[in-house]
Amino acid sequence: MKWGQWGARFSTAAYLDMIHTCLDHGITSFDHADIYGDYTTEEEFGAALKQIPGKRAAMQLITKCGIQMPVEARPSFQIKSYNTSKAYIIACAERSLRNLQTDYLDALLIHRPDPLMDPAEIAEAFTQLKQQGKILHAGVSNFTPSQVNMLHTYFPVAINQLEISVVHMDPFHNGQLDQCIEKKIVPMAWAPLGSGALFNNEPDERSTRILQTAAPLATKYQIEADLILLAFLHRHPSGIVPVLGTSKASRIISAMQASGVRLETEDWFRLWEASAGKQVP
Ligand SMILES: NC(=O)c1ccc[n+]([C@@H]2O[C@H](COP(=O)([O-])OP(=O)(O)OC[C@H]3O[C@@H](n4cnc5c(N)ncnc54)[C@H](OP(=O)(O)O)[C@@H]3O)[C@@H](O)[C@H]2O)c1
Repeated sequence: MKWGQWGARFSTAAYLDMIHTCLDHGITSFDHADIYGDYTTEEEFGAALKQIPGKRAAMQLITKCGIQMPVEARPSFQIKSYNTSKAYIIACAERSLRNLQTDYLDALLIHRPDPLMDPAEIAEAFTQLKQQGKILHAGVSNFTPSQVNMLHTYFPVAINQLEISVVHMDPFHNGQLDQCIEKKIVPMAWAPLGSGALFNNEPDERSTRILQTAAPLATKYQIEADLILLAFLHRHPSGIVPVLGTSKASRIISAMQASGVRLETEDWFRLWEASAGKQVP
C-alpha cells in the first residue's frame, strides 16, 4: 500500500530491490489491493515482477477487491461505494491478474464487508475463479465473525485480514481471532505497528506508556522496541501474520527476528495493560 503512489513512490528498480530484500529474508507474501495508489500500485509491482519471472513460484500474491473509489483512473464511479457482485469480483480478479502480470493469485480477499453483499453470489465468483485456476484461496478483510460465518456457509474463507496491534486490540476480545482458531482461518494483521503513529506522532499518554513498556522488553529480548510489538502479535495462538507496511529495507531485514521471539505471558500482559491503561479484570 505504501510502496507506490500512496507512499514511497518506488521506481521499478526500487520495487525490485525491495522484492529481492523480502525474498532474501524469508518474506515471500506480498499484500495488494486493486485500489492502492488509486489503482496504480498493482501495475507498478507487476512491471517489476515481469523482470524476475523465475521468482513468482516462490512468492504469494494476495490482493483485494470490492471497494469502488471515485478517482481519475475510475471516472465511472461517482461516490465511494462497495461492490461485491459476482461480475464485479470476477472483473477485478482478472484485472489484478493482468496488472500483476501473473496467471494466478494466491489469495483474493473482499476488502470490506459490503452491507449489500450476497454470500451466495460471492461464493459463485470465488468458486468460478478457483475452478479456473485464477485464485488458489479466497478470503475477506475487516469482516466480523457473523459476516465470516455467513460466507463460510457457502465457501471456505481462508483469510480474514484485520487491523490488529498493541493500539488496536479489539480482535483479541470481539471473537474475530477466536473464530480464526475455530475455523482454521489465517488472521493477517494490517497496521501491525499502528501505521507507525506510535513512533512518528507526538506521543500521547497511551503511546508513552506503550513505548516505556516496550523499551525494557527490547533490552530483555535483545530486539528493537518495534519488533517487540510484532512479537506481541506472534504470541497469539491464532498464528497472526503481520502485514508490514514499511518502505525501508532495513526494517524488512530485521522484521523476521520478531517471529523468533516468544514473549513470556506476563510480558504480553504488560503490553496489554500499557495499551488498555488498566489491569485485566
Ligand atoms: N485490509 C485493509 O483494510 C488494510 C488497511 C490498511 C492497510 N492494509 C495493509 O496493511 C499493510 C500495513 O499497514 P500499515 O502500513 O498501516 O502498517 P504498519 O507496519 O503498522 O505501519 C507502517 C508505517 O509505520 C512506519 N514505521 C514502521 N516501523 C517504524 C519505526 N520503527 N519507526 C518509525 N516508523 C516506523 C513505516 O515507515 P517507514 O516506511 O519509514 O518504515 C510506515 O509508514 C499495508 O501496506 C496494506 O498492505 C490493509
